[in-house]
Amino acid sequence: MANKDQTDTARMEKIVSLCKRKGFIFQSAELYGGLNGCWDYGPLGTEVKRNLKDLWWRKNVQERDDILGLDGSILTHHAVLTASGHVGGFSDPMVDCKVCKKRYRADQLDDVPACEKKATLPKGEDKTCELTEPREFNLMFQTQMGASADENDPNAVAYLRPETAQSIFVQYKNVVDSNRVKLPFGIAQIGKSFRNEINPRNFTFRSREFEQMEVEYFCRPEDGLRLTDEWLANRLAFYDEIGLDKEKLHVLDIPDGERAHYSKKTYDIEYDFPFGQQELEGVAYRGDYDLGKHQEHSGKPLEYFDEQTKERFIPHVVEPSAGCDRTILALICEAFDEEDLTKEGGKPDVRTVMRFKPAVAPIKAAILPLLKNKPELVEKAKEVRNLLQPFMNVFYDETAAIGRRYRRQDEVGTPFCIAIDFETLGLEEGKEDLKDTITIRHRDSMEQERIAISDLLPWLLERIR
Ligand code: GAP
Repeated sequence: MANKDQTDTARMEKIVSLCKRKGFIFQSAELYGGLNGCWDYGPLGTEVKRNLKDLWWRKNVQERDDILGLDGSILTHHAVLTASGHVGGFSDPMVDCKVCKKRYRADQLDDVPACEKKATLPKGEDKTCELTEPREFNLMFQTQMGASADENDPNAVAYLRPETAQSIFVQYKNVVDSNRVKLPFGIAQIGKSFRNEINPRNFTFRSREFEQMEVEYFCRPEDGLRLTDEWLANRLAFYDEIGLDKEKLHVLDIPDGERAHYSKKTYDIEYDFPFGQQELEGVAYRGDYDLGKHQEHSGKPLEYFDEQTKERFIPHVVEPSAGCDRTILALICEAFDEEDLTKEGGKPDVRTVMRFKPAVAPIKAAILPLLKNKPELVEKAKEVRNLLQPFMNVFYDETAAIGRRYRRQDEVGTPFCIAIDFETLGLEEGKEDLKDTITIRHRDSMEQERIAISDLLPWLLERIR
């Protein structure tokens, strides 16, 4: 019997392999040996990512009157990140092995690792790495701005942003002045962030380039703690809605001494990945630290004037900060299933199914004419495709036996397959009343039902939202 670790490792390997085989996620620059810590989303992964970002945006911006959107620049002024503390302190402790030269994050090592160069030493000799003392390694990617920039000119230095949050704080005043907003209100942003992680690992989990989905929710100081709890509940409801199993989600109330010094409350939301329970999102009450720092460093007032109470103060902020790529990885791990079936004749069979919720699934419906050499079937199937295409991502497939085509769609998580057959054409004797109906085959139950083509679009729209 394989132990749990081996089963989980095997499961993760299958997931990574499916992601490549089916076009969800590829290693970046694989052709040239790969760019460590960077990943490219393939055609299906791109659809899942768009779906997730659209859902997050709809829930956190469009369905709320108190949150506005922002799309800030990735290249960030050095002064912004000096004020926020990133230039001085955004670092992880790094150690190197003096023998094999492998590099590790000191705070992630439980034991001294085995040294690659010492593997062939005789039994009984010390085969572990010889580690240097930890030293701080700043995680930001630095660049020079402008063609004539002198590399020693500190004013020419810019950074790829390490979080989306800072452009929200820096544009806070412009948003307030241009939108007549009242506390409490939030500014939301989805976008790329970059961290030169010492040890990227676990597929896309710890990457050097990744996307965040963040809200900075500004409030009166006395509301901060209550709103932090409200945001935690809100975010857990979101994960439930997109299909993550409640049992696999864990909330960690970060104790005093382990939180950032300015935070009065921080929750981590963690998920049971096959490689262990790991962070998906942080919900942090950051007090007035960020706006306070930017006011201090820029010398410009960032206070809020309360018309009713006539008070002037720096708002406090609650920050739900989610990783987009980590959520996608969680969705993929959650969806992956291998179902044991029995073939006709009694032989065992395994069906690989990605059980995505329809709202997240990359393809919502596959349109399958029963036979490709019957022009009437093909023509009718293409009519159905044209009917649905303006409203959702559908896939037309006429190759191979229908059973194989169903299985191909199961593997990429298509919730509904639509078969166009002779009954659709009204050509089956005694079944003329089935003219202009199609068969819908459900991915999870594999059950089939017939509905009229005229009902198909609303039927699907209701289920894919
Ligand atoms: N503005 C707060 C902030 O950035 P964080 O805990 O450093 O907080 C928030 O990051 C989220 O961003 C994490 O919970 C995680 O989901 C995601 N994230 C952070 N570093 C990441 C990395 N190297 N790769 C993928 N996602 C990452």
